Amino acid sequence: MTRSFSGIKPTGHLTLGNYLGAVRRWADVDQYASDALISVVDLHALTVEHDPARVRRLSRQAASLLLAAGLDPQRCTVFVQSHVDEHARLSYLLECTAADGEMRRMIQYKEKAARAQAVGESVRLSLLTYPVLMAADILAYGTDEVPVGHDQVQHVELTRDLAVRFNQRYGHVFTVPKATHPRVAARVMDLQDPTSKMGKSLGNGPGVVFLLDDADAVRRKVMRAVTDSGQDVAYDRESHPGVANLLEVLAACVHESPQVLADRYASYGALKKDTAEAVVELLRPLQKRHAELAADPAYVDEVLRVGAARARALARPLVDRAYRAIGLLPAS
Ligand code: TYM
Repeated sequence: MTRSFSGIKPTGHLTLGNYLGAVRRWADVDQYASDALISVVDLHALTVEHDPARVRRLSRQAASLLLAAGLDPQRCTVFVQSHVDEHARLSYLLECTAADGEMRRMIQYKEKAARAQAVGESVRLSLLTYPVLMAADILAYGTDEVPVGHDQVQHVELTRDLAVRFNQRYGHVFTVPKATHPRVAARVMDLQDPTSKMGKSLGNGPGVVFLLDDADAVRRKVMRAVTDSGQDVAYDRESHPGVANLLEVLAACVHESPQVLADRYASYGALKKDTAEAVVELLRPLQKRHAELAADPAYVDEVLRVGAARARALARPLVDRAYRAIGLLPAS
């Protein structure tokens, strides 16, 4: 059976972009079609300024939301990255495989480092090496497929390069994985700035729909979405990025194509109204289930405990193999 691995980092509240670009597919497709491992990748949340208590809170909330979204612990493995030491162990070997130059070319690093420097914050070394840890997350499990949104493409490409390079140098250890994306909404844009990604760590509100926003907040944000000048409801990301974004969100909610939907609307107002209602309906069952799970933290903890035990058992032999292949003396 195909093995899939994906992760979400607890740096902020989960967004509609996370859900449509990744989480929904893990629940609807990957856990049925593959042996799926889904991780709350908390070590990645330490690469930027962070508050320890908040990271802990967001990690538990992310795990509850994954279960609320329909991940079934009987079908897939849900766990917290820091509960499985193999990620950090393998990451070091991959740091010894990666080159400084290729890390500095990562777009997300360049953008985030520039932002931090602009406000006088220092840049953590782990922000530079973050994609290597991500590669370790993926490679530790012999992963075939990595279901992600479009913003992760470059990181998965790096993962492939590192797997191939390691295998060439030290003998075959790693499966070379490939990224998969949803048909629509692989890159949901900020409603206030449809040329930037809707992001949980950046956005502080008006352009970002959070999964736990109440219906009024969702309606307000969608109705105030920036659209383009003109009146035509056309699906064109270049010339009409705001409208194209709404069409993609609506299409993803109602399982249609954005091109077909575009023909049905004569005004931006009607499109916004239907999109707002579709998102409210999409989030309703998820929020209900999340409220139940939030009231039962012992259940969530148990799911995470069992998930980490299974993940550990899968990763340990593979990472041990990589240790031997690279030349480290096995402990007797
Ligand atoms: P993160 O936490 O930023 O996002 C989690 C997933 O959500 C997708 N996503 C989006 N998709 C569409 N539109 C958006 N606006 C949007 N925003 C986020 C992301 O593409 C991602 O699939 N580096 C990863 C976490 C990670 C990981 C891994 C992923 C760490 N190790 C191993 C896969 C495999 C990240 O920052 O995702």
